[in-house]
Amino acid sequence: MITKNNTFTEIISQNKSLSSVLERFGVGERDYQKTIEEAGKALNTDPEFMVEIITAFDEDNKPDQKVLMKFPIETILNYLKKSHRYYLDKKIPEIEISLQDIIRRSNQGNAVLFALGNLFIAYKRKLTEHIESEEKELFPYIEFLIGQLRGDFDYKISQKIISRFSIQKFEDSHSNVEEDIEKTRNTIMKYSPVKTFAMSYRIFLNQLELFEKDLHRHSIIEDEVLVPKAQRLEELLKAMVERS
Ligand SMILES: [Fe+2]
Ligand SMILES: [Fe+2]
Repeated sequence: MITKNNTFTEIISQNKSLSSVLERFGVGERDYQKTIEEAGKALNTDPEFMVEIITAFDEDNKPDQKVLMKFPIETILNYLKKSHRYYLDKKIPEIEISLQDIIRRSNQGNAVLFALGNLFIAYKRKLTEHIESEEKELFPYIEFLIGQLRGDFDYKISQKIISRFSIQKFEDSHSNVEEDIEKTRNTIMKYSPVKTFAMSYRIFLNQLELFEKDLHRHSIIEDEVLVPKAQRLEELLKAMVERS
């Protein structure tokens, strides 16, 4: 069991792949002697929240909705934004490098590899759009709700925004791209031609599998924690507008 008194060295020695979760919190190798509690204080992040997220990514665990619901919505939002940055700036470019490496080693001639590479590029485009719509529409709307309820209530503005946007509407038009990666990975596996580049190809498939698990947890935190919490705020603000 991971607690806030564990050092990152202890955590990583049990499960190396957790470094990818630490990274998005801003914990690098230089911090590994610190405990979660010490790092949390230095990074202005609730250590208890870090414990929950790290645990959610350990082994076959999943995010625990009941426990995560107890944290402030700002904490959840902040974490999701950091994960988005991590996916776009780090994880996807890493996978692309592996892909280019495989294509380069295949003497450029392998049409199947090219096609499979393009499949990943197409997925990347979809995921990037998905993340951008969350960051440009959903997250600012939630921040607006928080602001209005924490003291900046403005009847006219609230009424206008609520009449135009709703979390339910956003969710209905927002496909679950996080789950599509499974299909992409299965297709890539099915048509994998490779014998010659077995090692680099296996690394690539392994990266895809880890990414799939990561995105799956990400969408649980979004759909089962962020969305219901935000919908509660939305209900409260609607009630305030109706009373005004
Ligand atoms: Fe997201
Ligand atoms: Fe999402």
